[in-house]
Amino acid sequence: MNEKEHFERLNKYYIKSKAGYDIFLWGSKHFGFYPKSKKVTEREAQVLMQDLVAKKLKLSADDLVLDAGCGQGVISTYLAKKYGCKIEGITPIHFEIDKANLLAKKLKVSDKINYSLMDYSDMEFKNNYFDCIYTIETLSHSVNIRKTLKEFHRVLKKGGRIALFEYTIAEDNCFSKYEIKILNKVSHASTMDSLGDFRHDKFQGTLKEAGFKDVIVEHISENVGPSLGRLRKFAILPYYLFVKPFGLQEKFPNVTAAVEFYKMAKKGLIRYNIFTAVK
Ligand SMILES: C[S@@+](CC[C@H](N)C(=O)[O-])C[C@H]1O[C@@H](n2cnc3c(N)ncnc32)[C@H](O)[C@@H]1O
Repeated sequence: MNEKEHFERLNKYYIKSKAGYDIFLWGSKHFGFYPKSKKVTEREAQVLMQDLVAKKLKLSADDLVLDAGCGQGVISTYLAKKYGCKIEGITPIHFEIDKANLLAKKLKVSDKINYSLMDYSDMEFKNNYFDCIYTIETLSHSVNIRKTLKEFHRVLKKGGRIALFEYTIAEDNCFSKYEIKILNKVSHASTMDSLGDFRHDKFQGTLKEAGFKDVIVEHISENVGPSLGRLRKFAILPYYLFVKPFGLQEKFPNVTAAVEFYKMAKKGLIRYNIFTAVK
């Protein structure tokens, strides 16, 4: 598939799934972090995940930060408001720019954030520009993950920090034939074209190849599990009533993922990781 087609499909997928994200996740498009020590609501867990980004980046008010795959601006507006940093948010999804700008205006942080329509594999920023870069649940959409990471390395200052909150999957031979079929259907329908490059215990090697050092991986699937479990509760009835019986998984990738990925995550076939590194 060529790049033009990829971005058309990606835009269609996010337009189609917009209502779901708005209704079930208040416009955010990432999972929450549930600490083991206390009970929190999904909304609180979402904020804890966003604070974890700041913690992993050791964010300060002096930092210029890239949010690569900014979605509707939920994370960047929160970080700019709480930590005072300046942020460039990029996305190739047209409507997300408008939504993010509206949110920044509402939260009075428009002077701290700039949103642009841009592909993280081909950015218009100059070399050695950012103090920090973060991604949350976006890199499996890359057309070419090695090119994306090289771009991150190029635009990051020497000594700059990255924090990537991303899934990895087990090797193909660990999945059943049925699981592989589901994985392929969901990743195709949601344009996760490079999911296959995110393998457990291997992605850190890809980061090193791109020039990053001090690469650390933390596996936080257990903290994210309740967030996925919550979505599963909403999805389970429609999934077993009509999506699965009529083979409609590609038409309803998010409903399918909420049910089927939950089972795979329980078996350790899908993990949620935080990768940190420096240039
Ligand atoms: C699951 S959403 C996560 C959005 C946001 N990080 C959040 O957590 O709310 C995936 C996002 O990836 C971004 N994305 C996908 N492909 C991209 C690309 N080639 N360049 C930049 N961003 C991209 C889009 O902004 C999309 O909303």
